[in-house]
Amino acid sequence: MKENLPKTLITGADGMVGSYVDFGIKTDPRSLDVADMNETMSVVKKHAPEVIIHLAAETDVDRCERDPNHAYFINSVGTYNVVLAAKEVGAKLVYVSTSGIFDGQKSGPYTEDDMPNPKNYYGHSKFLGEVIVRSLLKDHIIARACWMFGGGPKKDEKFVAKIIAQLRNKEIKALNDVCGSPTFGKDLVGGIKKLLLDGAVGTFNLSNEGVCSRYDIAKAITEVLNPSVKVVAVDRRYFDLDAERVSNESMVSKVKIMRPWKEALVEYLKTEWENKI
Ligand SMILES: NC(=O)c1ccc[n+]([C@@H]2O[C@H](COP(=O)([O-])OP(=O)(O)OC[C@H]3O[C@@H](n4cnc5c(N)ncnc54)[C@H](OP(=O)(O)O)[C@@H]3O)[C@@H](O)[C@H]2O)c1
Repeated sequence: MKENLPKTLITGADGMVGSYVDFGIKTDPRSLDVADMNETMSVVKKHAPEVIIHLAAETDVDRCERDPNHAYFINSVGTYNVVLAAKEVGAKLVYVSTSGIFDGQKSGPYTEDDMPNPKNYYGHSKFLGEVIVRSLLKDHIIARACWMFGGGPKKDEKFVAKIIAQLRNKEIKALNDVCGSPTFGKDLVGGIKKLLLDGAVGTFNLSNEGVCSRYDIAKAITEVLNPSVKVVAVDRRYFDLDAERVSNESMVSKVKIMRPWKEALVEYLKTEWENKI
């Protein structure tokens, strides 16, 4: 599949999702700071890619809440800079967005057509990124993910790694009153590749298939890595977090190209964590 992809440049390629990108020109904040318009323009012009996969973002939801200017600067202005550079060289843009653009009020999973209404600064700054991409660049893919996992012991700083870090405890507490659709970074990259090869344009939900709670994920992790640990269900009042978490971030996709979340999670745990903790 690698051979058929057009010349591709990736921003923010040193993170969780970027660790699964095995093609193209991979950049990080040192070689391409998306918040720096001149640098973004000059690096993109130098490489003249046909596709830009824009992964760079501030993904720490609570940091975004404490410092909204930073969130908008990286996630919204940074995306604007990448869009302008893509326009300049005539590249297609893939923007990775988030289920965090929704307000969680819907009773079922969110589709691509549901109306965004972000409830925290991370979600708002990423939604503005979507608006910028959609309004300025026809040739784009917006790929929405939810509850990302991936990157293994070196790169994973999100929920799955936080649960794994507690596996030596007798019990682990996890939220049972929020639902989402977990996304394996490796599968997200595979989904993006497929959409690119199909010549797709538009907005696509690319989480793994299915809906679960944080409690369900924690249970699945302990089943694989340490079944003797008890998982205790708690509700959102239990954790004191800076940014509001909504009760429903689950998604369903108009394209059926992603496998079920549990199958993906088990593969991740067995290939990247087993015997390393
Ligand atoms: N993580 C999730 O739960 C989640 C869920 C849905 C969607 N997404 C989206 O998925 C995409 C990939 O995120 P990820 O999960 O791989 O998160 P990640 O591991 O935090 O990766 C993001 C990367 O962007 C880099 N970056 C930050 N500021 C930058 C800048 N000014 N210029 C260039 N690069 C910069 C970061 O570098 P440093 O670490 O050195 O700052 C990091 O390597 C993001 O667009 C994110 O919004 C993530």
